[in-house]
Amino acid sequence: MSKEMQLLRLLRGNFVQTRCMHSAHTMNAAAAVAPEQQQKPSRLKTLSIYRWNPDKPQEKPYMQDYQVDLNTCGPMVLDALIKIKNEIDPTLTFRRSCREGICGSCSMNIGGVNTLACISKIDTNLSKKSKIYPLPHMYVVKDLVPDLTNFYNQYKTIEPWLQRSDSETRSKSGEVQQFLQSVDDRAKLDGLYECILCACCSTSCPSYWWNGDKYLGPAVLMQAYRWIIDSRDNATAKRLDKMRDPFSVFRCHTIMNCTRTCPKGLNPGKAIAEVKKLLGGIASKPAPELDPVALKK
Ligand code: SF4
Ligand code: SF4
Ligand code: FES
Repeated sequence: MSKEMQLLRLLRGNFVQTRCMHSAHTMNAAAAVAPEQQQKPSRLKTLSIYRWNPDKPQEKPYMQDYQVDLNTCGPMVLDALIKIKNEIDPTLTFRRSCREGICGSCSMNIGGVNTLACISKIDTNLSKKSKIYPLPHMYVVKDLVPDLTNFYNQYKTIEPWLQRSDSETRSKSGEVQQFLQSVDDRAKLDGLYECILCACCSTSCPSYWWNGDKYLGPAVLMQAYRWIIDSRDNATAKRLDKMRDPFSVFRCHTIMNCTRTCPKGLNPGKAIAEVKKLLGGIASKPAPELDPVALKK
């Protein structure tokens, strides 16, 4: 046998030995952990979930119970919903995307509170069912998915983007210029820009339940205020005039359900109060501390 072949055999022998050692180690580790896991009694939690299927319109909505072992489930309600969908019932329908409270997709009513499933801990009291419904007083597309068409159309009406006349956005050479804003003026947007449009607040508002077609609701009004108060935006008068009617803003009766339920800790009730002051003429938008178009000049 050539020297190369001898060397190859030797190396292969070592490799097999090493691999055996690894798998023995892995098996030992598994053997050590497995009984421990087996000994853990299951912690079965019942989730009672609203179901409705548009393909069976003759069937009324109903609540369906699912049992989830909390030992093999993540800590959040969204983890349990995903586990149910993956392992028990693939027909269960809900929205989700980011799973970290950023996208606003997983808003639903959990234990009587409008909130985000991905940042809501599962109630670990096993003797109590957790009840989960779609956002209240909304048309339901399927199961936990509400129809947000009206909500988004209302958002569209407030034109949620920065507005200035075209001539002011360009320098003499025709280039688009950045707008300036002082640190203090920028700080006025804090507590407003963080809104993720989850609709938890609007769907907790009794005024929105009864007049959702004409009253804009806390989420949309807070976004309207976010653009009104932005020192760089000069469409303030137009924005306010659009809402100057008995319904768009003044259906808010300061019940404050909106602020109480916001999963991002924002205060839409306060923003609406500010809009009311501007509409009522008891406050006016302060002049910008920095000229937003100073770079153009
Ligand atoms: S204000 Fe809060 S509850 Fe309302 S849409 Fe924004 S993040 Fe959601
Ligand atoms: S403060 Fe206004 S918007 Fe908020 S829940 Fe009450 S009525 Fe609705
Ligand atoms: S999944 Fe995005 S906020 Fe819950």
